[in-house]
Amino acid sequence: MAGRVALVTGAASGIGRASALAFARRGATVIAADLNRDGAHETVARIAEAGGTGEALRVDVADEDQVRGLVTGIAERHDRLDFALNNAGISGTAGPVAGMHKADWDTTIAVNLTSVFLCLRQELELMSRQGFGAVVNTASVAGITGNATLGAYAASKAGVVGLTKVAAIEQAPYGIRVNAVAPVFTVTGMTEKSMADNPEWARAALAAEPVGRAASPEEIAEAAVWLCSDAASYVVGHVLVVDGGITVGRRPPDAPPVRVDREPA
Ligand SMILES: NC(=O)c1ccc[n+]([C@@H]2O[C@H](COP(=O)([O-])OP(=O)(O)OC[C@H]3O[C@@H](n4cnc5c(N)ncnc54)[C@H](O)[C@@H]3O)[C@@H](O)[C@H]2O)c1
Repeated sequence: MAGRVALVTGAASGIGRASALAFARRGATVIAADLNRDGAHETVARIAEAGGTGEALRVDVADEDQVRGLVTGIAERHDRLDFALNNAGISGTAGPVAGMHKADWDTTIAVNLTSVFLCLRQELELMSRQGFGAVVNTASVAGITGNATLGAYAASKAGVVGLTKVAAIEQAPYGIRVNAVAPVFTVTGMTEKSMADNPEWARAALAAEPVGRAASPEEIAEAAVWLCSDAASYVVGHVLVVDGGITVGRRPPDAPPVRVDREPA
């Protein structure tokens, strides 16, 4: 990926930070965008420590003008955008659909789904000028199988899956590939708090995981970066589930007990 430019949203922590570092390790110049300015700068500092190149930008991906400014700025400074990982997201307020506040729905849809539309639209415009590009959107297993108490989140991620597929077939004739990655239970800021607050919930969630543990952000990042890479040149409109096998089947009841605190391999 040397000489190429990669944009990662939600790059201040978790999957986004791990992906920014993974793109940089492969030689790409990384634009690390996030609402959390300090976190984005910390990601770029880590990239620099490892000998890579990056830029940190504070961007609200749900804001149309800010997203336009983000991609216009990349075009002005770098004159190209090769890879984009539209990854920023929030879990939203947990609770049943019956009784959900519309404001909670609106916020989750804006940050998780409308943002992907806004970013994708600008990224594709720039990529189509160069006739090359690869975009990955971060969906979720929750957008495929559903997830009780996270109605707006699941709907937003199902929307990301649909948008990915439509953009993929529209852009494939023009040398631009669009795919998605669908993680489950990854140890990041989003899940660490719920694991600490509610270890019983975490234990129950992981008890069904065939691999017996949560994913590390790096394990999701590797999948996302691979989808962007030339190694995935024939992969178009795919939703790459990275879930330890949970959507295929539950952990067998006679398997060894799951440890919630186990370090990822
Ligand atoms: N952690 C999991 O188990 C899991 C599972 C499936 C999907 N995902 C998805 O992975 C993506 C990354 O999440 P994560 O787990 O790394 O969580 P995280 O909280 O560590 O990272 C999310 C990042 O997005 C940023 N962000 C939030 N709103 C933003 C906005 N409006 N504009 C710009 N940046 C914003 C946050 O500041 C944060 O740095 C999300 O889309 C999430 O839905 C996570």
